[in-house]
Amino acid sequence: MTNSQETLTVRDNRTGEEYELPITDGTISAKDLSRIGTGEENPGVAVYDPGFTNTASCRSAVTFIDGDKGILEYRGYPIEQLAENSTFLEVAYLLIYGELPTEEQHEKWVHEITFHTFVHENLRSLMQGFRYDAHPMGMLMSSVGALSTFYPEARNIADEDIRHDQIVRMIAKMPTLGAWAFRHGQGKPYVYPDNELSYTENFLSMLFKMSEQKYNADPRLVKALEVLFILHADHEQNCSTNAVRSVGSSQVDPYSSVSAGIAALYGPLHGGANEAVLKMLRRIGTKDKIPAFIEGVKAGNEKLMGFGHRVYKNFDPRATIIKKACDDVFEVTGVSPLLEIAQELEAIALADDYFISRKLYPNVDFYSGLIYEALKFPPEMFTVLFAIPRTAGWLAQWRELVDDKDQKIARPKQIYTGDRQLTFVPASERWK
Ligand code: SDX
Repeated sequence: MTNSQETLTVRDNRTGEEYELPITDGTISAKDLSRIGTGEENPGVAVYDPGFTNTASCRSAVTFIDGDKGILEYRGYPIEQLAENSTFLEVAYLLIYGELPTEEQHEKWVHEITFHTFVHENLRSLMQGFRYDAHPMGMLMSSVGALSTFYPEARNIADEDIRHDQIVRMIAKMPTLGAWAFRHGQGKPYVYPDNELSYTENFLSMLFKMSEQKYNADPRLVKALEVLFILHADHEQNCSTNAVRSVGSSQVDPYSSVSAGIAALYGPLHGGANEAVLKMLRRIGTKDKIPAFIEGVKAGNEKLMGFGHRVYKNFDPRATIIKKACDDVFEVTGVSPLLEIAQELEAIALADDYFISRKLYPNVDFYSGLIYEALKFPPEMFTVLFAIPRTAGWLAQWRELVDDKDQKIARPKQIYTGDRQLTFVPASERWK
């Protein structure tokens, strides 16, 4: 019996009927809502919620966010502790399999991923077919989708061993595909994985190695990339994860689902924001142009990219950690001239009621672009640097979806606003 305090009593004034709706985990069931109303005259009630601003699509144990308190936890572990003390591959294992790995599990996991970094040569040829100036996110989205054709067994999503193999392959191959997309844009030869290097060292080697025998990355940059990868690994039901879950709900293979996630992340309101932030800072150019830019934002001409978040209404804990990582990277690369503009922009925005009243604060994308620029990435690569680590979160969420007995194929309702029952007039008569 439901505790009467944990219910809503709803009166349908169309019929005078009253309904008691249980409140479970802060939500009411849409199915219970559809019971309100009877027949043609008073149809069942649904929820209209563009962008799902107030709709829970699933139960998940992967990531917890408290937007008001600026809390982010992966499987219960605070992001600050993971960023400080863990590695990306250990965090990926935690997200996907729910527990921190034992020494033996970790060793096997790292070995499997290290020895799956190579990509079928036909995929290299496919990537070389892109225009010289193809956006690397378009290349990544396509090549991950193409991976599904090399591993047809991936369609057997019910088999845990097959699922594990595809998860290992995607985590392992994303840096290779991302690095090759970067090299493609530079007109440089693709660098093959070096299995003697760690995950992030190998990524840097495939990006920047030239004629030297072995690429030796600065350990401070490797650590900064490791922290950035951990911070970007998952973020509960964001736009791209929703895309992965929605496409995955059709029971398609995980490569196709992740390819849909890459497509969603590409958008400037989501992962594409880090690229947009850097272009915005470059466009502002000097501190004296900031007031006019801010006025343009307040006039609604454009958004202050890297600011605002659907969930965080005080601060994004990742932005705090990234800001510190900036200092570590700039120690190696020298301070970005855009840092001063970013800091001034943040200071002005945080003191301006337009942003305060809308609870707009720097998000994960505001400062990450400065690090990527200092690491000599072009802005077009920034979202690729987001997609690579987010693959761990997408796969964790996809795996949870496949095992969730509550889940069904995603097929929302609509409010129909078009014409009805028109009579068709054949072209021969219409065009007389
Ligand atoms: C990511 O969801 C996640 O978890 C995403 C992410 C992850 O890890 O997966 O955290 C990664 O995508 C971070 C967000 C990166 N995007 C940007 O930085 C782009 C700029 N930000 C916005 O477009 C916006 O803030 C969103 C998309 C992030 C959030 O949008 P919401 O929650 O739908 O909020 P909204 O658009 O309804 O905005 C509320 C008000 C509006 O003003 P009014 O219509 O009330 O007058 O705030 C305004 C918006 O116009 N507003 C902004 C603004 N963001 C919102 N005004 C100026 N600049 C901005 N950046």
